[in-house]
Amino acid sequence: MRIRHHSVSDLPAILALLDRCSADRYEYIPPTADALVRRLATEDLRILVADDGARLLGSAACHLGHWGEEIEWLVSTEGESCGDVRDRLVAELEGQARDSRVSVRLDAVPTVLAEWRARGYLVDGGIFHLVADLTGRTSPPSLSPRLSARSVEPRELDQVVEVVRSAYGWERLTVDQIESWKTQYPPFDERWILAIERAGRLVSIIVARPDGEYNDRHGARRGYLGPAATLPAHRRQGLAAFLAVRASDLLVAHGMRSAAAHVYETNTASLALTRTLGFEVRHHWVYVRKTLDPAPPAF
Ligand SMILES: CC(C)(COP(=O)(O)OP(=O)(O)OC[C@H]1O[C@@H](n2cnc3c(N)ncnc32)[C@H](O)[C@@H]1OP(=O)(O)O)[C@@H](O)C(=O)NCCC(=O)NCCS
Repeated sequence: MRIRHHSVSDLPAILALLDRCSADRYEYIPPTADALVRRLATEDLRILVADDGARLLGSAACHLGHWGEEIEWLVSTEGESCGDVRDRLVAELEGQARDSRVSVRLDAVPTVLAEWRARGYLVDGGIFHLVADLTGRTSPPSLSPRLSARSVEPRELDQVVEVVRSAYGWERLTVDQIESWKTQYPPFDERWILAIERAGRLVSIIVARPDGEYNDRHGARRGYLGPAATLPAHRRQGLAAFLAVRASDLLVAHGMRSAAAHVYETNTASLALTRTLGFEVRHHWVYVRKTLDPAPPAF
């Protein structure tokens, strides 16, 4: 078996393998060929493949993110040596890691967790997938008449990013991401970003958009809400709740029948907020992480 970096000619086999393996994972939507080529051109996605000289045996991919080297997929063909293929791919990714931290998001399934524990990965938090049914909903009567939301202007994107950064404490959203969503999730544009302004500054924002890949794959009409952010000095005044209701109205006006969101399991504020909006937990992913030993000094 040989482990190597992918070449363009591997992409169809990698995509076919991802497609075959997607049934094992909750709502995993394999990238389209176009999306993968676009990401390879614009991002630091690193793809490894395992082959036996004739056919693809497996593939793994990672990118550098907030949590260090983030593994996006690890797949192998069926067969006796599939565990060995996956172990070799992970060992190679670790050997080439550009950060001492390596992490991966997993379905909280005991066999999957056991496989990663055996490689030295430890569970470190998790995230919920939540979905709300938007059909037949009416706006709650308790909405404050003193609040008003508006869409942001293209020139205000820097401010949106700044509100999100201040609220989360890290760069959760970039202007480039918002720009790429315009191409990825039409008809998304700035009008889908709602904000509350006070004294000439944005203090609370929410981003709504079509849940693009899910809708394309399943012919669905699901929207997505997030990120939502309120500056610390303006919290607990109902701003995020108000924006979430208005954003849900916007999704309904665009024909969406449900809305999805992701919330970290420790984010009690957001979990309470989504519950009051009718979201229900559909899935729980966990993060497993490993800190690599520093490389020995070169003599
Ligand atoms: C989560 C966040 C957007 C809430 O903003 P907010 O404007 O303060 O929220 P609201 O005032 O509209 O709160 C609505 C409801 O959410 C819940 N909630 C909000 N903050 C809460 C907290 N700190 N603890 C517990 N529940 C909380 C409550 O049920 C609240 O209703 P109540 O005040 O009547 O009890 C804000 O705390 C934030 O920006 N956090 C950091 C970024 C983040 O985690 N974003 C969401 C990721 S999915």
